[in-house]
Amino acid sequence: MSETKRVAILISGGGSNMLALLRDMTGDHPCRPVLVASNDPEAGGLARAAELGVPTAAVDHKPFGRDREAFEAALTERLEAAAPDIICLAGFMRILTPGFIARWEGRMLNIHPSLLPKYRGLHTHARALEAGDAEHGVSVHEVTAELDGGPVLGQARVPVHPGDTPQTLAARVLEQEHRLYPMVLRRFAVGDRTPIRL
Ligand code: GRF
Repeated sequence: MSETKRVAILISGGGSNMLALLRDMTGDHPCRPVLVASNDPEAGGLARAAELGVPTAAVDHKPFGRDREAFEAALTERLEAAAPDIICLAGFMRILTPGFIARWEGRMLNIHPSLLPKYRGLHTHARALEAGDAEHGVSVHEVTAELDGGPVLGQARVPVHPGDTPQTLAARVLEQEHRLYPMVLRRFAVGDRTPIRL
């Protein structure tokens, strides 16, 4: 096997996608987790990662106010100490500056709950329902300076059911997120960028 890839995961919340990634990174997987970091010290995912023996870091964005660069400098310090080959954003709810993105470009993935290029940004489930879409889903993409705009590495589709609410639709999409992200990471880690379609 070629050298194991070191993976850092950035979260802001419960971290269910992070857990799906951590649980997959065992055995013959080409990666191992080296850090789970959050901008929210209260993020439930930090404790869940620690339970699995993964090093964690909290870099609270609030003391930095509007100074995104200073927040990112503190985050970068923690990341560099962990020396990741790949960074997975998994429900990380901070907009990143072009400087931070350039630092990790080509090595940073994000999961976004829509069939990109549809519905970049927030409230994707409500927007899909408002538009009357018959299908919705999730994308994993490389992070570039364009918000939710980098090359798509995988997508999973789900049907929209009559009577769906943003919550029921989100739950259906989330199940697919947990399938898709680990599959994309496995491929990406060995240099395969062929998009996955589920
Ligand atoms: C997921 O829906 C992800 O696509 C979105 O935020 C949510 C994070 O959920 N960006 P979790 O923290 O992974 O459970």
